[in-house]
Amino acid sequence: MSYENILYSVDGGVCRVTINRPDKMNALNHQTITELGAAFDAARADDSVRALVLTGAGEKAFVAGADIGELHAQAGNAQGAADLAAFGQGVFRKLEDLGKPSIAMINGFALGGGCELALACTLRTASTNARLGLPETSLGIIPGYGGSQRLARVAGPGVAREWILTGDMFPAEEAHRIGVVNRLFSPEKLEEGTAKMLKSILAKGPVAVRFGMELVLRGWDMDQTDGETLETEYFGKAAETEDMREGMAAFLEKRKPDFTGK
Ligand code: COA
Repeated sequence: MSYENILYSVDGGVCRVTINRPDKMNALNHQTITELGAAFDAARADDSVRALVLTGAGEKAFVAGADIGELHAQAGNAQGAADLAAFGQGVFRKLEDLGKPSIAMINGFALGGGCELALACTLRTASTNARLGLPETSLGIIPGYGGSQRLARVAGPGVAREWILTGDMFPAEEAHRIGVVNRLFSPEKLEEGTAKMLKSILAKGPVAVRFGMELVLRGWDMDQTDGETLETEYFGKAAETEDMREGMAAFLEKRKPDFTGK
């Protein structure tokens, strides 16, 4: 697929997806969300891709939300608006279910659908000049791309209520303090810091990384006992991998492991 509103590249096992509508603060219109869906499918299917970084073009925005012009056209049309939300949720879920770690590299405003998109990533880094929030209630609507559910899971229901009800924008420092952003960097160090975080993940056993991601994601919807049962299941599966033998042998032999993902 050729892309108009995003940039897609793969280098050194890392797929980079850049939302590229800087003159519109990278707002998510239907075309852009469709292209993101295709990009996530491509990244999932490409065995050379081990991780994904998602960011926004330009200096000001990661993504300033769903395209308000398009949303406005849905006013008074309950079914149309619900369909729009379901479509976006489906695409964001592809990102969450990528089976490979993803990092939202938040380089500016991450508002509304942009914040929701970042929340669908496995992890989030941000520059100190970023601002995050769910301002939908300012427009008389609510988050529609899974944000009400994911923010509550990432930072707790109290934070989700505060962000949704006030519609305020929060500085990256605050988002970092409450765990919405995992790592915070100066704008000049955002790329380098994100690359360092990725390098650390990519040096680990790929199967173990995938199991770890899946356990946290799937365990959320289980009670603790079921979650622990799932953990024992994955723990057993991990013990069957060549990577486990290699990881432990490397430790005992005082060398770096050479993981193969098997
Ligand atoms: N949808 C559509 N267009 C958007 C947009 C969005 N969510 N966010 C920004 N834009 C457009 C603006 O309309 C403007 O386009 P124009 O130059 O054709 O008029 C352009 O991007 C630049 O935005 P502007 O508002 O001039 O920049 P700013 O620096 O003054 O303010 C924001 C930046 C992000 C604070 C402001 O654009 C904003 O509040 N955006 C909406 C955020 C929002 O409510 N998102 C949730 C949507 S559900």
